[in-house]
Amino acid sequence: MDRNYALEFVRVTEMAALASARLMGRGDEKEADQAAVTAMRKMFNSIDFDGRVVIGEGERDEAPMLYIGEKVGSGKGAKLDLALDPLEGTTICAKGGANSISVIAIAEEGNFLHAPDTYMEKIAVGPDAANAIDLSMSPTQNLIEIAKAKKTSVENLTVVILDRPRHADLISEVRRSGARIWLIGDGDVSAAISAAMQGSGVDVLMGSGGAPEGVIAAAAIRCIGGNFQGRLKFRNDEEIARAQKMGIKDIHKVWALEELAKGNVMFSATGVTQGNFLDGVKFTANGATTHSIVMRSESGTVREIHATHRFDIKPKF
Ligand code: FBP
Repeated sequence: MDRNYALEFVRVTEMAALASARLMGRGDEKEADQAAVTAMRKMFNSIDFDGRVVIGEGERDEAPMLYIGEKVGSGKGAKLDLALDPLEGTTICAKGGANSISVIAIAEEGNFLHAPDTYMEKIAVGPDAANAIDLSMSPTQNLIEIAKAKKTSVENLTVVILDRPRHADLISEVRRSGARIWLIGDGDVSAAISAAMQGSGVDVLMGSGGAPEGVIAAAAIRCIGGNFQGRLKFRNDEEIARAQKMGIKDIHKVWALEELAKGNVMFSATGVTQGNFLDGVKFTANGATTHSIVMRSESGTVREIHATHRFDIKPKF
């Protein structure tokens, strides 16, 4: 995959972030998401590639743009699959909270798991604990192994978990283990990335969140280093039937990192609201600043891009 694509795609997440950041704190999740989707789609079509959305805004009948299977790009150039979330953390943005991001992961055709729109039980860690995790073990056992790998004690670990009633047992178990917990309202892609980043203060992401977000997080961790495992969690038989139709044979399988995102992967994310590893969009008198990370699994390079956008020359947001 041509490495220059990484820099093309950061423009796309920048535009989606600029568009949705305008709607920060306005209490309208749908409007903020729609602004990001429209901006992202417009930017895609200015890039020479033959793209297909694999993880997107939903099925064709429920999403008018960036739906699963939609072709994007000029149609000329490399055949690439996209796993995207124009606004990850719609509620966060609508409330002006921390860690909403615009995100795209790119792989060669066929290399992302076509994850159905259901839940996924997840575990994510950084490079120093990459070999310590196993989703088929209990949370306590995973924490013991992670602590051993990091040459520290369980009490020193910080576990990030989505604050949901479905996680009551998990939270009790982690509390019993002695580890510290950071409960988040939304945004488990950015939480998984924090878990993989050295020095973020977060050691592991646990619990279930969206399955599509799991594939996006796995793509990011392929680039940063570290590990991620996921197991689909279905709410009903209809979701199981849908997954089987999408080609998932073993519904109880623990998916390894390279099964979720194979081959060479690129990843771009831009902060929408202020976050742990990305600043949010800041508007000025005649423009705005954005903060992005762009990463490639092939080289392992993680680039941070601080950009200043001028609205007297470029489109206004
Ligand atoms: P949206 O950006 O689609 O609102 O998703 C936010 C999010 O918190 C994800 O990060 C997470 O994977 C998922 O929702 C969790 O789902 P639920 O809110 O149903 O627990």
